[in-house]
Amino acid sequence: MDARQYPTSDATYGAYAKHISPGKVALFRQLDLHLVMGEREGSIFTDAYTGDRLYNCHCNGGVFNLGHRNAKVLDAVREAFDSVDIGNHHLVSGLRASLAERLSATTGGELPGVIFGVGGGEAMDLALKAARGVTGRQGVVSAKGGYHGHTGLAVAAGDPEYRTPFGPNLPGFVQVPFDDLDALEAAVGDTTAAVLLEPVPATLGMPIASGGYFRSVGDIVRRAGHHGRGTDRSWKDRIDVVLPAARRRPRHPRHRQGFERRRLPDQRDDDDTGGAVLFRAVAARASVDVRRS
Ligand SMILES: Cc1ncc(COP(=O)(O)O)c(C=O)c1O
Repeated sequence: MDARQYPTSDATYGAYAKHISPGKVALFRQLDLHLVMGEREGSIFTDAYTGDRLYNCHCNGGVFNLGHRNAKVLDAVREAFDSVDIGNHHLVSGLRASLAERLSATTGGELPGVIFGVGGGEAMDLALKAARGVTGRQGVVSAKGGYHGHTGLAVAAGDPEYRTPFGPNLPGFVQVPFDDLDALEAAVGDTTAAVLLEPVPATLGMPIASGGYFRSVGDIVRRAGHHGRGTDRSWKDRIDVVLPAARRRPRHPRHRQGFERRRLPDQRDDDDTGGAVLFRAVAARASVDVRRS
C-alpha cells in the first residue's frame, strides 16, 4: 500500500487538514514539520516523500513495543484473514474464548473475565460500567490532570480541558491531586465504585509517584470495599483500581511499586498488541454479568 496518496507532502497535509484535523496540521506547520510516515520495519520508518530513514522513538503510547510490522504478528494476522472474518458476535466463538483465555493467562489467571473493546477510552468505559454495575455505587475517583480517553465515562474522569467544551460533567466523578494519599483517603468512601489512576500520568508531565503510593491506594480502596450485589462472590470487598497505562510500567523497581504480578489490580486494559491489531480489552476478576432486578 503506497503511503504517497497525494503528489507531495504539502498536498497530504492539505487533505489531512481538510478532512481530519486542521489543528494538528496547523501545529505541525508551525513546527516546520513535513513528515509523512512511509515504509516501516522494526524500529525504523521512512519519510514517504524525502526517503529519510528515522528511528521511531515515539512508540505511539506503547502500541509498537514489538516493533513496526513485527513478522510474528503479521503472520498471525495473515493466517487469520485467510480463514476467518469478524464473525458474528451473537454466536459463541472458540477463537474469542481462547484469546480471552490467553489474555487472562498474562495475569497469572487472576483476572479470568475479559471484555473486548476497540479503544482505550471504550475499555475505560467498560471497566467503570462494570465497577458501577457490580458495586451498585456511582462514585469514581481519579487524578487531576489525568487522561483516560475521550469517550463518555473516560472523559468524565479526565482533565477538565478535555471535557468542558462538551458541557457540565457527569455526576459522581471526583478528582484529587496525583500522589496525595490524604486527598484520596478523604475522597474515597462508601459511595465509591472505582479509583482510576495511571501509574505514570503522561498528560501531567510523567510524574513518578512516591514509594508505596499505589500499595497504599490499594489499601484505601480495600478499606472502602463494598458488599454489593455482584453476581460473583469474588467481587466482594473490592473496589477496582483500574490502571489504564499498565503498558507504561516503568523499569526502575522504585517506580514499579504495586505492579508486581501478585499485586495486579482488579481490572486493567492493555494495548500491547504489536501495532497490527487494533483492539483493547478489560480483564476482570470474574466474568461480568450485571443484572438489575
Ligand atoms: C492512559 C490512557 N488511557 C486511555 C487512553 C485512550 O485510548 P484510546 O485513544 O485508544 O481511546 C489513552 C490514549 O492515549 C491513554 O494514554
